[in-house]
Amino acid sequence: MSIRRDPLDPYDRQLVREGQPSPAGPRRSYLPDVPDESLLGQEVRRFEHGSRVPGFRDATDLTKDPSGVPDPAQVPVPAELRAEIEDYMSRYPDHRSAAIPALAAAQRLHGWCSPEAIEQVACVMRLTPGYLTAVVGFYDMLEATPVGRKTVYVCTNISCSLRGGDELLASLKGELGDDPDVNIRGFECLGACDIAPMASIDGTYVGPVAADEIPVLADQIRTGSDPLPAKQLVRRRVADAAANSDDVVRASTDTGTLGPVALGPDRPQDTVPAQTEGPSA
Ligand code: FES
Repeated sequence: MSIRRDPLDPYDRQLVREGQPSPAGPRRSYLPDVPDESLLGQEVRRFEHGSRVPGFRDATDLTKDPSGVPDPAQVPVPAELRAEIEDYMSRYPDHRSAAIPALAAAQRLHGWCSPEAIEQVACVMRLTPGYLTAVVGFYDMLEATPVGRKTVYVCTNISCSLRGGDELLASLKGELGDDPDVNIRGFECLGACDIAPMASIDGTYVGPVAADEIPVLADQIRTGSDPLPAKQLVRRRVADAAANSDDVVRASTDTGTLGPVALGPDRPQDTVPAQTEGPSA
């Protein structure tokens, strides 16, 4: 049986029943005027598992029951991770808003958002693993597969690309590509275009990275030492001389949070000349 849309309102329909011409003109169909028989027996296209909706990366196994909120008695959660997640949850009116920092915390602990990591976050936040898996799948700084613990993002967006960002990425990949501890990839604008071409090494921004500095930088990444200290954004002098300070902070590779860094007598030389007073008027 075909489906037709009747454009007549009840008043017009009554006129037609009485044999009068319809004000709306001849009856129309918004579907192709095909014989009813041609629609009979046609099968609706089905995807895997009989669904009429295609799956997303085949991630869902519909032969299993959906996972519910994990039972705290059956999911051991490290105390520090639990405390950190609960702290994040306490900062938002809706505790689900803490999903991203909570997953990031689990990722720092496990190295990636593994099924175990997601289960632990779900247990503390009283959410289903499916809810959190959707968040992991959307945000590309949350890793859905195992990766190296050292994270290197090389910006290849417009400003960095114009100043050699693509070459920087290719060279660093050439130097570090076979190191399983390093997760290196190109990234969209990291918001430090004034130091293009730049990279984020475990959260520490460095740039502009010159071609002859790449082997040194690769070695520092490999050994876990401070990357290009004189090229770090956090140590860069600003125009307001009064705002410059040696009490710099940098991202901690352990926690991903900011913490103080003691600068000893080996403090690196700044590459930007110190600001001088201009001529008085
Ligand atoms: S384009 Fe590279 S930081 Fe903005």
